[in-house]
Amino acid sequence: MTDGQRIPVIIDCDTGVDDALALLFAVRHPALDVRAITCVAGNTDVDGVVRNTLTVLEVAGAGDIPVARGAERPLIEPVRTARHVHGQDGMGDLGLPAPTRVPVDVDAVTLLRREILASPRPVTLIPMAPLTNIALLLRTHPEVTRNIERIVFMGGAVATGNATPVAEFNVWHDPEAAAVLLTAGVPITMYGLDVFKQVLVPAADVQRLRAGTDPSLRLAGELLAHRDPATSGDPTPTGGLGDAGAVCAVVDPGGLTTERLPVEVALAPGPGRGQTIVDRRPLPGESEIHEGTRAQPLVDVALGVDVQRYVKLWLTAVEGA
Ligand code: BDR
Ligand code: CA
Repeated sequence: MTDGQRIPVIIDCDTGVDDALALLFAVRHPALDVRAITCVAGNTDVDGVVRNTLTVLEVAGAGDIPVARGAERPLIEPVRTARHVHGQDGMGDLGLPAPTRVPVDVDAVTLLRREILASPRPVTLIPMAPLTNIALLLRTHPEVTRNIERIVFMGGAVATGNATPVAEFNVWHDPEAAAVLLTAGVPITMYGLDVFKQVLVPAADVQRLRAGTDPSLRLAGELLAHRDPATSGDPTPTGGLGDAGAVCAVVDPGGLTTERLPVEVALAPGPGRGQTIVDRRPLPGESEIHEGTRAQPLVDVALGVDVQRYVKLWLTAVEGA
């Protein structure tokens, strides 16, 4: 595949066990041209995210992809990490050595603007973390949208949340930023918890990866084992490929079933804060009849996923078969 045929992508992450699985896939898949990676506070503090991201790229033997440090806290909320899921170091406490790679000396927003506008073809943005960097970018340099093909983000939920009964972690961590993302004015796909939780790698594949001689395969296996619902003891596992599924959706959109629906982030304080309210009603309700309709962004919401197809896609790229 020539450079002109590959999909230019930029990943915004909070690495993160499943962010790492996404990075391993993205740098290995021949259809993707990863032009930059930006880091934001989320699963762990932003310096930990930078370190983990560089470690993954190093173990994967990835090319020289610029990595930038971004926001160290959400727009309004304090930092609220997910170390109970991702370990104290944010990457499963696997005892990995510190990376020799270093981040670029510009901040995430600057790198995002530079790489989006420099891309010869419109970029697909893949945020898989709290959306702080993306909101800052859209508000600081709105002109970037002219060279964004689409945004495929991991976040939100149609049905059930994880951070709260109704809110998914990435949106809950920075709800205002998510609201800014939804009004970006470019095509958006929401790869939410409804599909995120479904894509689980069979135990036999995990064991094969763990037993491999290639360090990047072993890392993939250890990360997956960390997220294995059977071994993690997590009664409501978010395990499996996690964020990597959103990258699969960029390579192979046909594996997702989506519907274009109005989506709004609940911003009011209280138990609903951070919920992505997805309007699946077939007809307007009394609210619209009596009070009129409100302009709401339309989003391609993932409602179904071909699990085997994405697992095979991910394994094939990561194992180089
Ligand atoms: C999201 O939160 C993080 O813990 C994961 O990396 C994923 O991006 C799932 O709610
Ligand atoms: Ca993430």
